[in-house]
Amino acid sequence: AEVVIVPDAARAGAIVADEIVALIRRRPDAVLGLATGSTPLPVYEALHGRIDGVDVSQVRGFALDEYVGLDPAHPESYRSVITREVVEPLGLDPDRIRTPDGSLAGIEHAGEDYEAAIEAAGGVDLQILGVGTDGHIGFNEPGSSFASRTRVKTLTRRTREDNARFFDTVDEVPRHCITQGIGTILRARHLVLLAFGEGKAAAVAGAVEGPVTASLPGSAIQLHPHVTVVVDEAAASRLE
Ligand code: F6R
Repeated sequence: AEVVIVPDAARAGAIVADEIVALIRRRPDAVLGLATGSTPLPVYEALHGRIDGVDVSQVRGFALDEYVGLDPAHPESYRSVITREVVEPLGLDPDRIRTPDGSLAGIEHAGEDYEAAIEAAGGVDLQILGVGTDGHIGFNEPGSSFASRTRVKTLTRRTREDNARFFDTVDEVPRHCITQGIGTILRARHLVLLAFGEGKAAAVAGAVEGPVTASLPGSAIQLHPHVTVVVDEAAASRLE
């Protein structure tokens, strides 16, 4: 992987946003892989300042994951988050931006349907990734198969505690999610993994330099030919 160490998250956002704008100019119907959580927010903010005059009407996007059983209208459903942080501020066409269907009614086919939709779009051009403190990418927790495709997973206690800040209590954080698999993520043409802060240092070191192992799902990026890792000093602090 190419590792870029930046002074702060805003700089990281600017670098990745520039890359995305260049991609959209080259390919107006580019397919973006969208992460949620805190990490990608500087990218979305930087895009906001750069997208003026760029035709984004054809841009397509696929979120990495969604909570299972959370009302899509709940402010912390990833559908809501993507709408609020990405689709609305950037003026994307909501019909071209998909999130996995986390409703209990649709769950049986949701994984297959999502894979088919990604396939039909011709695959993801640029996949934005964060990384969990436990090394997860998407919501592929430790132990996830590198061949996995979009499916329902159980969130670890640690991830639910990490994400409790978005809810009133940890008990409100859903226990299950539907996430692109590691195999799905690895099919994107360019992976851009971002991480900020000391809390991500171990996960970043494991992902970039550790043994390639299912115990640290992020290490799967080492199997991909085109990966850019953008981290601040604190997140880079355990790299050799
Ligand atoms: C989000 C996702 C997760 C997060 C990870 C880090 O769509 O798939 O892998 O990227 O949990 O979360 P933050 O960025 O909130 O620290």
